[in-house]
Amino acid sequence: MKTTVYIFLLVFISLSLQAEGGHELWLRNKSTGHVTVTCSRNSATLAVAIKELQQGWQGKDNAKVVLTIKDDKAIKYDGFKLSPGEIQANTDLGILYGVYELLRRQQTGHPIEKIICNPSYEVRILNHWDDPDSSIVRGFASRSIFWRKGKNSLVVTDADKALWQEYARANASVGINGAVLNIVNASPLVVSEGYLERVKAIAAVLRPYGIKVYLSVNFAFPSMIGGLKTSDPLDADVIKWWNAKVREIYSKIPDFGGFLVKANSEGQQGPHDYGRSHAEGANVLADALKPFEGILMWRAFVYSPNDKDRAKQAYNEFMPLDGQFRDNVIIQVKNGPIDFQPREPFSPLFGAMKKTSVMPEFEIVKEYLGASIHLVFLAPMWEECLKSDTYQEGAGSTVARCTDGSIYPQEHTAIAGVANVGVDRNWCGHLFDQANWYAFGRLAWGNTLTSEQIADEWIKLTFSQIPSGQAASTLFSTDWTEKFLVPVKKMMLQSREAAVNYMMPLGFHHIFAMPNTHYGPGPWWAPEGVRKDWTPPYYHQADTNSVGFDRTRFGSDAVSQYHEPLGSQFNDLETCPEKYLLWFHHLPWNYIMKSGRTLWDEICYHYETGMQQVREFQKIWDMVEPYVDTERFTQVQDKLRSQFRNAQIWKDACLLYFQQFSLKPIPYDIDRPVYGLDYLIKNSDNYYGL
Ligand code: GCU
Repeated sequence: MKTTVYIFLLVFISLSLQAEGGHELWLRNKSTGHVTVTCSRNSATLAVAIKELQQGWQGKDNAKVVLTIKDDKAIKYDGFKLSPGEIQANTDLGILYGVYELLRRQQTGHPIEKIICNPSYEVRILNHWDDPDSSIVRGFASRSIFWRKGKNSLVVTDADKALWQEYARANASVGINGAVLNIVNASPLVVSEGYLERVKAIAAVLRPYGIKVYLSVNFAFPSMIGGLKTSDPLDADVIKWWNAKVREIYSKIPDFGGFLVKANSEGQQGPHDYGRSHAEGANVLADALKPFEGILMWRAFVYSPNDKDRAKQAYNEFMPLDGQFRDNVIIQVKNGPIDFQPREPFSPLFGAMKKTSVMPEFEIVKEYLGASIHLVFLAPMWEECLKSDTYQEGAGSTVARCTDGSIYPQEHTAIAGVANVGVDRNWCGHLFDQANWYAFGRLAWGNTLTSEQIADEWIKLTFSQIPSGQAASTLFSTDWTEKFLVPVKKMMLQSREAAVNYMMPLGFHHIFAMPNTHYGPGPWWAPEGVRKDWTPPYYHQADTNSVGFDRTRFGSDAVSQYHEPLGSQFNDLETCPEKYLLWFHHLPWNYIMKSGRTLWDEICYHYETGMQQVREFQKIWDMVEPYVDTERFTQVQDKLRSQFRNAQIWKDACLLYFQQFSLKPIPYDIDRPVYGLDYLIKNSDNYYGL
């Protein structure tokens, strides 16, 4: 009898979960009662706040909420005070954020307590790598939501506006307040008259949600499109050109946020082309933006083929310039010293530049973590970076505190995430990639939040379907919690470590099939004529004796860019965390690990573990089928199957390739490779299809 009732219940739940493509993100819960909202002021932002409260209210029926705007020194930026019947803020936007927090608490079953909630960073911004031709570099969710190709590319349609509004709402709901609308390898088109009109239209839709627009610009625009012979930042005409361009932009978009610049990096021009420093270059643009309160985000992602260790270059180039940048310049630094790898130690620039504003750049799009095919929740990776102790001002000088103004008096604080959004029906390509967009916003707002809390919230908001008339508190039944929430959360929280295990464990990095996909394994990839620092052998340095990049004091000495005691910790084999071992050390294959195994065996077990973890994810997902609608269930199930095949490919490719050097057997209690090395090398451009 019990079983029959249970089966009936499961069938009932499944049927009531309507099929859907995931377009509603984490914003799917509708109101379960009436609420009266009072507010003494009017504005477009406050109108959104009131509408959101009424549409999403899940508190007591016929409750009252007062929205109060008044100056309060305890509230920072667009923060707010929350209490059961009131939201108080200094700004209209603060009220909107307070509303989203209140609704989130209601919908995730958290109490509405008296709290002050201030954002960690002033600017919480998405960097879209969208080109005006509508393609997205490293975009796995189809084409750009901002740009269109073809004859009518500049016509702003109602459909465009509707989509931008949904995008703005999603961002505001997690506290994101800025968007760079185009790729860092910037096309001159974006600052042309027609495109600026489109930027103006986008800004108008995003404005009520508190999202400012920014543009990436190319340092050489003055000579590329301004008719000048040079882009030398100290040339009077160049300065005039930038001033005029900035004035033109602000005449159209008075609250324009500012520029993002990639200079002297990967072929982009920059001040070095004119014998000037990054500071001299950045300051000219910063001066042009300053009268309008615009900011300049200048990227520290620089490296050239000549230097010996790519991991050291950004630090070497930027440290001597500390203190030379204008106060509206923020140096944008990728989380690690190389390039968004599955695991890197934090960039040594964090905390080291003490007289310059520095902002972390994370990559929400999974360029190096399985594109939109693998399920990888990135919050643990960002949490790891934010919590890393730089020791720059004593123990506890975490990356978070060195960048959010807690330690240094930065004029501006900011954090950027490379967006994973496109016109795909579910926005991100993979349903679980929505969690990465969500997590970036939540961590940008509160950089001490835990991955566990963020995953918990996202799952509740994304999968629990609250039937109208019911409150969240009745929704999270023990059954749903135990059989859905707990296992799915566990899967999410393990997923990044799993990816590291089956891709690049123990400090391996940049061993992808290059150059195009950054997707599957290619530790062998080194065609003649390609610059060495773009080839995997440069990074793994495997030979018949040993493997790993020697960055110790006997090697490239990258360890010395870290403040003591960290530099010595990384340098010393006894204290270097094993997760960074081959990042910092070149070691014999039979080096004995903490587990007592040889390095070779340990590598093999990590690849095997990663692959088996994905197997487990498949089981978990199959078991939760009764709790998910068919469309979302099937999409994730299919992707997990591909992910497992890919994990197998990673394991087989790396073990068989490195075995040529280690000359040791793969431990016999590990499943044997399925693919041959020759076959994988031959098909390395087509891993997606295997
Ligand atoms: C990576 C990525 C490029 C991107 C670059 C950057 O190298 O593959 O597509 O342009 O980062 O951050 O500028």
